[in-house]
Amino acid sequence: MCGIIGVVGRTDTLETLLQGLSRLEYRGYDSAGVALSGPGTTWRARAAAGTESVAALRAECVDAPRGFRTGLGHTRWATHGAPEALNAHPHLDCSGSVAIIHNGIIENHAEIREDLVGRGHVFTSVTDSEVLAHLIEEARKAGEDLSEAVRTSLLRVRGAFALAVLDATEPDVIVAARRISPLIVGTAPGVSYLASDVPAILDQAKTFYAVEDDQVVRLGPEGFRALDLEGAPVRLRQLSIDWDLETAEKGGFEDFMAKEIAEQPEALRATLLDRHRRDGAISFDEMGVSDEELRAVKRVVLVAAGTSNHAAQVAKYAIERWARVSVEVDISSEYRYRDPIVEVGTLVIGVSQSGETIDTIQATREAKRRGARVLAVTNIVDSSLAREADAVIYTRAGLEVSVASTKAFVAQVAALELFALRLAQLRATMPERDVEALYRGLQAVGAQVERALSRREEVAEVARALFGARDFFYLGRHVGFPTALEGALKLKELTYLHAEGYPAGELKHGPLALIEPGVVVVAVATDPAMHEKILSNLAEVKARGASVVVVATDDDESIAAVADFVLRVPGTEPLFAPMVDIIPLQLFAYLTARALGRNVDRPRNLAKTVTVE
Ligand code: AGP
Repeated sequence: MCGIIGVVGRTDTLETLLQGLSRLEYRGYDSAGVALSGPGTTWRARAAAGTESVAALRAECVDAPRGFRTGLGHTRWATHGAPEALNAHPHLDCSGSVAIIHNGIIENHAEIREDLVGRGHVFTSVTDSEVLAHLIEEARKAGEDLSEAVRTSLLRVRGAFALAVLDATEPDVIVAARRISPLIVGTAPGVSYLASDVPAILDQAKTFYAVEDDQVVRLGPEGFRALDLEGAPVRLRQLSIDWDLETAEKGGFEDFMAKEIAEQPEALRATLLDRHRRDGAISFDEMGVSDEELRAVKRVVLVAAGTSNHAAQVAKYAIERWARVSVEVDISSEYRYRDPIVEVGTLVIGVSQSGETIDTIQATREAKRRGARVLAVTNIVDSSLAREADAVIYTRAGLEVSVASTKAFVAQVAALELFALRLAQLRATMPERDVEALYRGLQAVGAQVERALSRREEVAEVARALFGARDFFYLGRHVGFPTALEGALKLKELTYLHAEGYPAGELKHGPLALIEPGVVVVAVATDPAMHEKILSNLAEVKARGASVVVVATDDDESIAAVADFVLRVPGTEPLFAPMVDIIPLQLFAYLTARALGRNVDRPRNLAKTVTVE
């Protein structure tokens, strides 16, 4: 999730860019860069210094040309290629005249790069984005102006982009374009701006516009013109932005948690992008463990803490079901104290949003010491866990600021289930057509999550009705159980109310004694194969006076008989269901916490990353 900014028409262009980039710090990044264009000259500076990159970049700009009126700035959240200066944006074409900045993923970058190298282009980075600079260079050589060159180049591109381009041979012009990754345009008298989101230009532009998918915008000091990818003129939708900077950083939401809950469809789509080749093979460019090694895996052990452990528990069902490999899930802080058995063919997967949870790092270190191969599934490029592992899969959820994890959970489940499908392909445990069908189903989860998110008001009604309850049980069967655990954790850490996640079948083995009027039982009942048993569990608790809330699919007509409240979700493949069913549970915890006046982004006693054992 990179940050981009562009400006055309100011004489203090560099300072405007650097200030805008510093406003994007909350998006998280590992490198930064700027490019300026003036009469016949494109000048560039880049720096890779983690969160100090913008400060380091400023130091690189001491000899920047003065008075240049056109410029681009970029903060990078690496997806392809290590977070080093050579991979930092802006990227240049061979002539050094065209500079591009990009947020997104070019799925067919490998085939485009191969074609361009064959035409003599010299690449200087290992990023997917650099192909855009050389594609545009080819079009400019063919005599197309910058807008046309960008438009025709993008017709060849598959994937997501928020792109901005300058060219010293067309001064006072920036061309920008968007597909999936966010992009806005801003104007002020004599100046035009672009940015990946509002904070970067909030105090500069006076009027704001949204760029929609497959639109190309040509910006100059006098304003902008917009086209669709076919070249037909389009009008940009004007935005009403009356935010202060803090609100802008939250994307207009009341807090980061609301923003991150809303970002889950985008996080899911980003996690799946560019990981399914045209021949149907599932591939992780960055993984770093061979197909042969994966074929030889005899046992998988997942180690994780908190929410990540719940995602790992979901993954256990998927890996065993699809790849027919035995899987264990360990609480990170317990793993190394149980004298774990590690045989040849054991793959240990450390799951961690931050990649800095010391319990999980220590667990994977112990596994490695005992001879296991270690795969990290993490959201932070070059995190400690990623660096120490033999292989890595990034979840691409974008920076998660709120202490309570939401979008990271769905992205982890998606990445782990995609990995499970890869294992199934390599071990030929499923017909290829079934893998393909499941991959298509995984792609559809983003839209199902969007539909679940649209029912926030129904969840709010239940939260209002149950306001004041103090004792909660969350129940589920099969993958509904880790979903229940995650729902209970959200309620605990956000509201400070007591909640326990339990296997629904376990209640009668003791906890049923706690059920009485006033206790709330929340059940996940979206799996048809588990439905009848869950209904009977709920009848037991209802008979003892509990208030019953059920997460049920839209077509479930029998649930109303045992539920006081029903939280409806779209039906999906049962193994994908945790990514959809968790949405009303996240919203329930969030809305209850806000009603209680809790600090939802910074709950008491908790830290975003637990770096102590
Ligand atoms: C989840 O909402 C909590 N913030 C916490 O349980 C978290 O999931 C856990 O500390 C693990 O963090 P990690 O994914 O960064 O390793």
